[in-house]
Amino acid sequence: PTLPDFASRLVRWQRQHGRHDLPWPVRDPYRVWLSEIMLQQTQVATVIDYYARFTALFPTVQALAAAPEDAVLAAWSGLGYYQRARNLHRCAQIVVQTHGGAFPQTAESLAALPGIGPSTASAIAAFCFDERAAILDGNVQRVLCRSHGIDDPVPATATTRKLWSLARSLLPEAQDMAAYTQGLMDLGATVCRPRQPACTECPFATDCRAHLAGDPQRLPVRKAA
Ligand code: ADE
Repeated sequence: PTLPDFASRLVRWQRQHGRHDLPWPVRDPYRVWLSEIMLQQTQVATVIDYYARFTALFPTVQALAAAPEDAVLAAWSGLGYYQRARNLHRCAQIVVQTHGGAFPQTAESLAALPGIGPSTASAIAAFCFDERAAILDGNVQRVLCRSHGIDDPVPATATTRKLWSLARSLLPEAQDMAAYTQGLMDLGATVCRPRQPACTECPFATDCRAHLAGDPQRLPVRKAA
C-alpha cells in the first residue's frame, strides 16, 4: 500500500516550506533544462553562480547552439563532468536544427535528446508542461525507500523498477506537478537527508515506515559493491 495522501501532503509542504528562491523560471524549458543538467552532479549553491553566468553568455537556446564549443566548455569550467557540457551543446543544436528552436513538450521526446535521461526528462516536462511524469534521482529513491519501508538493495535493477513503479503510482493531478516535483527534490535535500534526517519537520512522519521503525537512516539499503 502507498502512504496515504502522499502527493497532497507533499504539495502542501512544498508550498509552505519548500524552496521558492531558485533562479530558474519553471515555465521556461531552456532555463529549466540548463539548471537540471547542472544540478545532476552539482549542489544548488554552486549551480546558482554558474547558471547566472551561463545564461548571461547564452541567453537563448539559439545563442548556445551558435556558440563555439570552446566557449561553452569555458563557461562550464569548474563544474566538472565535461561530457555534460558537450551533450548540452549538441542538444541545443538539435533543438534549433530539428525542433525549430522549441524544446519538445513530452518527457518521452525530451529523453531522446543527448544528456537528458528519464528522470531529467520528467522533471522538465513536469515543471514546464504539467506532465504527470515521475522523477527518480538519488534523493527521491531515499524518500521513497524510507516512506514506504522498502529495504531491497539500491542500486539493483529489480529495486529500480519497483521504485519507478511506486513513483508513478504516487503522482498528483497535473496542476500540482510543478510543486510536487520540486517538493520531492526539496524534501530529499533539506529534510529526508542521507544522515540525521529532520523527521520532526517531515509531512510524512506520522506514516513513514522508516521513521516509525525508529531508524530512518537505515534506508535505503546500499548494495554491497
Ligand atoms: N536537483 C535537481 N533538480 C533540482 C531542482 N529543480 N531544485 C533543487 N534541486 C534540484
